[in-house]
Amino acid sequence: MSENLIEVKKLVTQFSGKNGTVTAVDGVSFHVKKGETLGIVGESGCGKSVTSMSILRLIPKQTGKIASGEILFEGRDLAKLSEKEMRQIRGNEIAMIFQDSMTGLNPVMTIGKQLVETITAHSKMDKKQAWARAEEMLTKVGIPSPAQRLKEFPHQLSGGMRQRVMIAMALSCNAALFIADEPTTALDVTIQAQILELMKELKEKENKSIMLITHDMGVVAEMADDVMVMYAGKEMEYGDVRSIFKDPLHPYTRGLLKSIPRLDQSSDDPLFNIPGSVPDLSEMPKGCRFCTRCPEADKRCREQEPGLYDVNGRQVRCWKYAPEGGQDDVRG
Ligand SMILES: Nc1ncnc2c1ncn2[C@@H]1O[C@H](COP(=O)(O)OP(=O)(O)OP(=O)(O)O)[C@@H](O)[C@H]1O
Ligand SMILES: [Mg+2]
Repeated sequence: MSENLIEVKKLVTQFSGKNGTVTAVDGVSFHVKKGETLGIVGESGCGKSVTSMSILRLIPKQTGKIASGEILFEGRDLAKLSEKEMRQIRGNEIAMIFQDSMTGLNPVMTIGKQLVETITAHSKMDKKQAWARAEEMLTKVGIPSPAQRLKEFPHQLSGGMRQRVMIAMALSCNAALFIADEPTTALDVTIQAQILELMKELKEKENKSIMLITHDMGVVAEMADDVMVMYAGKEMEYGDVRSIFKDPLHPYTRGLLKSIPRLDQSSDDPLFNIPGSVPDLSEMPKGCRFCTRCPEADKRCREQEPGLYDVNGRQVRCWKYAPEGGQDDVRG
């Protein structure tokens, strides 16, 4: 029996624009087990948010679409559900926590009213019970004077508090999967640590699953069980967090890990940056997508795109790990 809560298979998401169709997510596959956290990392523009928006089916219809692939959530393919069925899933079974806490909250409704709405929608509680529950939830996410805060509007709270309110909302809906897209990037470090701690509790005490999208490899090391490293719409390396941090195989993963600031680093030492930038979706290099920036690229890398190869249970999209003369791509 599979214990995967969600399994995404060969997801392809495209946008059409002036210059034709671009593929922002190009055949990505991954899964998240119950009670585990998958970290998705990669530089800006690699397709992390488009991946999460695809799962939630929030890709703007005018320009974008899921072109192919499956999104199996508790056995159902989300890619095939109607808009109505999807609304039932969003916020009920899958909760979202975004970087910008204003997007997740209604600016003209008090915090209390919003929380109470969420709670009554997902339980049999009446308004009064739900109000007490809302107060309890704010206490749980560490908001002082919760009774007072419930009467306030989102703009009266600091960014960090709003973020915690969003987490309280997410917690109130009994979702099984939490998708957090840069949930702490905008917050100061103390609040960031508190929020990460809350998310850890979710997974450890309540067996929830989390997809955590971040630029921050330090956060990944602390939070994730598995990691998927994305580059230009594809997974470059995918496996368990410990082995990836201990022994990164893909030159891109190595570059990302080298760019983490270290405590023992002198402030005169410039921080390593992978030279160059992520290629534009409409101008993908031939061969490996990372070849233009890869310190180890050779002729083959520039001409032929590598498959995804299995290396001791880890998946790596790099020619260096292609089995000799053997079957290449693990996805077939
Ligand atoms: N609505 C859209 N229309 C056209 N292209 C889009 C749209 N949304 C995203 N893209 C493109 O898809 C690619 C992936 O974007 P995405 O937002 O997923 O990146 P990301 O990895 O989340 O980056 P960041 O770390 O900056 O949040 C980018 O090239 C982006 O320009
Ligand atoms: Mg993003």
